[in-house]
Formats: sequence, C-alpha cells, structure tokens
Amino acid sequence: MTHAADTLAGSTTANDKIVVRGVTKTFRAGGGSFTALDNVNLELEQGSFTTLFGPSGCGKTTLLRILAGLQCQDDGTVSLFGQTPTAATKEKNIAWIPQSSALLPWREVRANAVLSKVVNKRADRNRSSIRIDQDVETVLSEMGLRDFARSRPAQLSGGMRQRASLARGFVHGAPVMLMDEPFSALDEFTREALRYKLLQMWELLRKTIVFVTHSASEAVLLSDRVVVMTARPGRVHRVIDINLPRPRTAELERSPEFYEKVTEVRNALQEGWS
Ligand SMILES: Nc1ncnc2c1ncn2[C@@H]1O[C@H](COP(=O)(O)OP(=O)(O)OP(=O)(O)O)[C@@H](O)[C@H]1O
Ligand SMILES: [Mg+2]
Repeated sequence: MTHAADTLAGSTTANDKIVVRGVTKTFRAGGGSFTALDNVNLELEQGSFTTLFGPSGCGKTTLLRILAGLQCQDDGTVSLFGQTPTAATKEKNIAWIPQSSALLPWREVRANAVLSKVVNKRADRNRSSIRIDQDVETVLSEMGLRDFARSRPAQLSGGMRQRASLARGFVHGAPVMLMDEPFSALDEFTREALRYKLLQMWELLRKTIVFVTHSASEAVLLSDRVVVMTARPGRVHRVIDINLPRPRTAELERSPEFYEKVTEVRNALQEGWS
C-alpha cells in the first residue's frame, strides 16, 4: 500500500475525498461581471477518475484552476483530502498537466521528468506532505520513453512530448492530478494510444484524477464519473456514473454498452444547452 493510502485509508471524513461545496466564481471585465461558475458541488473519491465535460466557456479550466489553488473562488469551499488548494499546492500534493506539454526545451526528458523535485525542495522536506515520488526510470519505461530519456523535447514528436509531460506528472508523485485537455492537440491515433497509457498508469498508481476533454468517448473510456456542465453560468448539469468494467479495452470501446454511455453523455450535454 502506498504512503498516501496509509495516510488516508479508513478516514470517514472529508479527508478521504475532494469536496467542492457551493463554489461560485464571477469575473469582472469591462465594467460588467460574468458568472463563470455558479454553485458547483462535487465529491470526488480518493483514487477515482473524474472527467469534466461541457461546452467551451462553461468553466472547466476555471474549476481546475480553483482546485489547484491558482485562482480563488468568490464563494464556497474546496477541500482536497482535508487541505485547502493553496496548502495542497504548497506541499506539492497536486500535479498539473496542461494542454501543451510545457517541458523545458533545454532539459533532457529525464531531467524534465524530475523537475518538480528540483524546483520545490522545501516542500520535499515538509513532513505533512502526502506525496510519494515515483521512480523516474520506471515511469519513463511505462510511458515508452526509456530510450528517449536523454533526448531534448525538440527531438520528440508531439505525442512523445505529451507522454513526457504525463511522466513528469506521475514522477511528481502527487496524489491529485489535474489534466486540462492534455491530448487535444494530438492526432486521433496518438491520442488513442495515450488514453490507454494513461489508464495503465492510473490503474497502477491510483491517483485521484480530474480530467478535462471535449470528447464524449474519451470521457467515457477513461472515467469513473463524467461531470456534465452547462455554460453561462457554469453549473453541474449531471453526474454520470460510468459503471463499465475495468480495465477498459478497445473491445469494450466497440461494445453497445460503451456506445450507450457515450450517447448518454452527449445527450446530457445537449439537454444542458436547451
Ligand atoms: N481571467 C479571466 N478574466 C475574465 N474572464 C475569464 C477569466 N478566465 C476565464 N474567464 C471566463 O470564464 C468563462 C469560463 O472560462 P474557462 O476557461 O474556465 O472555460 P472552459 O470551460 O475551460 O472553456 P474551454 O472548453 O474553451 O477551454 C469564460 O467565459 C471565460 O471568458
Ligand atoms: Mg478550458
């Protein structure tokens, strides 16, 4: 059992969940105001895979940024296993995987993967931190990058760079991983392969993942739950349980059950519009 699981197992309080309560966020611009998130409530179990799914502008990135402590809500509370987002970020309990890989171009893949350890040494010394660092060689190998550990990002394809970015997230060891459309810039074939890589890593390490995508089938393939949001203002319209068997396979993707779930998610998105 991992250290994180030791720390959190058996807890009956919000210490074993991510809890979002009544979160509202209003942006002020040009003399007016715009409610990006309105009374968002969510509970995410430890080790679960949740996807935020909704139209452009419904507040998915804003919600991830609030979870990561990069932005403050105007109202409501957020707790990540009992910590505020700011505390969780300070202690490196959150890994952030953006849409573009954001690797440092002058560092080799291996050096990029261990980067978070280098930039926040103080957090490593903090005894309340619940991170477990993963062995960099193992993670690079799992992500199919062992032979490219000494390559620089410019020497990799887009898909390999995104794999390196995921590897960095996993090496970081944080129990929470926030992923904002990490595969959106990739071609369909690479994207498909990376979905399965991500699932493999998640099944191995059981991080709590909050993922954003515009693809209903990607959401269904990866997730335990899909949170369908509406725009203007951004609200949770429906939370759909994806009770399909794991590990998820290409065969499952071709099954009627899978297709039904994708249709349910798409219909929920449309309901939210009308
Ligand atoms: N810093 C900001 N200042 C003003 N308005 C903002 C700011 N950040 C986001 N918004 C507004 O809040 C709304 C939600 O934005 P957000 O980026 O969270 O949407 P999203 O669901 O991630 O969209 P997309 O799918 O296009 O990435 C948008 O209308 C956006 O214009
Ligand atoms: Mg966004």
